[in-house]
Amino acid sequence: MDLDAYVRALPKAELHVHIEGTLEPELMFALARRNGVALPYASVEETRAAYDFSDLQSFLDLYYAGAAALVDEQDFFDLAAAYFERAHADGVVHAELFFDPQTHTERGVAFETVLDGLERACRDARARFGISSRLILCFLRHLSEAEGFATLEQAMPHLARIHGVGLDSSERGHPPAKFERLFARCRELGLHAVAHAGEEGPPAYIVEALDVLQVERIDHGVRCEEDAALVERLAREQVPLTVCPLSNVKLCVFERLEQHNFRRLMEAGLKLTINSDDPAYFGGYVAKNYVDTARALELTRAELARIARNSLEASFVSDAERAPWL
Ligand code: ADE
Ligand code: ZN
Repeated sequence: MDLDAYVRALPKAELHVHIEGTLEPELMFALARRNGVALPYASVEETRAAYDFSDLQSFLDLYYAGAAALVDEQDFFDLAAAYFERAHADGVVHAELFFDPQTHTERGVAFETVLDGLERACRDARARFGISSRLILCFLRHLSEAEGFATLEQAMPHLARIHGVGLDSSERGHPPAKFERLFARCRELGLHAVAHAGEEGPPAYIVEALDVLQVERIDHGVRCEEDAALVERLAREQVPLTVCPLSNVKLCVFERLEQHNFRRLMEAGLKLTINSDDPAYFGGYVAKNYVDTARALELTRAELARIARNSLEASFVSDAERAPWL
């Protein structure tokens, strides 16, 4: 069996994918036309050609511009339905989707419009492919604590449909501690908590996410390597890291995949998973992230199977739900 087929056949969970980051330019243009929304580029080809990023912010500027094409409940359904089709082809049996409600409510799209469309696609994926899923509401860290609390207020009537909260957007200058009270309230409400940390930001942000926000997983976390004590702690506590190798190269965290620290972190005993982050922008869905990383870092099939197993173990499903996959 070739490597690609081997990877696709591994049952896996995707734990770090921004649903807005799965918006392929073709669908972006179709939705923009349907909704009469102007996009910054004239064509699908011009849009793809612009996906040449120098850092996280240069990507986020385009990502937020593209998200403007999403207006109606059906748009959010179409977006997530397209993701689930690709995820199914990649052997994803469970997906925990990040969504950024503030990106949409700021433009006048109702919180319920976003949630209803995504949730309908989750139900549809369960029925069509047997994929289970969860929704994780991400707060945009470049916005204020007060804006985060206002978003939580909008989410309150729907908490049964939201499984956890996350923290994303521009990392530098927006430390996790800025959201200490918001995350404390979310945890009190019984929500799971995760946060992006140590993608572009320093290792201290990972420590803060763990100690101040009390998150259960770290999204990215690759800069932990600059702090030996932190690496040792992450290994000892088996804190899952949701690593996104192709994203890290596209956003210049590492110059080339061959230089990624995934293998070193794995050998240090960390509980690592492989994910796609924003696959429409970064050149590959989850299986391509596994395959390209395996080729670049000479990961064995046994190591890839361990990584897929880590993703199932690190997911927020119950042990009973998880059992048939392990
Ligand atoms: N939002 C979407 N993708 C992101 C990433 N890689 N880092 C921070 N925020 C994001
Ligand atoms: Zn991310």
